[in-house]
Amino acid sequence: MDRNDARFTPLLPLDDVPDGKAVGVEAGGRAIMLCHFEGRIHALDNMCSHAQEPLACGRMRLGWIACPAHGARFDLETGEPLTGPARDPIATYKVRVVDGMIEVAL
Ligand code: FES
Repeated sequence: MDRNDARFTPLLPLDDVPDGKAVGVEAGGRAIMLCHFEGRIHALDNMCSHAQEPLACGRMRLGWIACPAHGARFDLETGEPLTGPARDPIATYKVRVVDGMIEVAL
């Protein structure tokens, strides 16, 4: 791992995103959410592709997060919609943890 890889931006300490939680952050002019699910961190757009509602307060289970507005579920790994009414995927970002800090490639 190249610690000086400029693509990665430190966003939040890992301690601020406990397992089972999703936290929204602004970075690089984008609304991003960091989702901690079963020991892994995922970074995705914090905006549903259906009607542009924030996702970070949605329910997370079995590798997906559900939109709180109309219930579309998105795969945490790929950003693909698993259920409607959303049809389009949301963007995903590479993540790494360095010295307890979550870094995302934007
Ligand atoms: S805004 Fe997310 S499902 Fe409608």
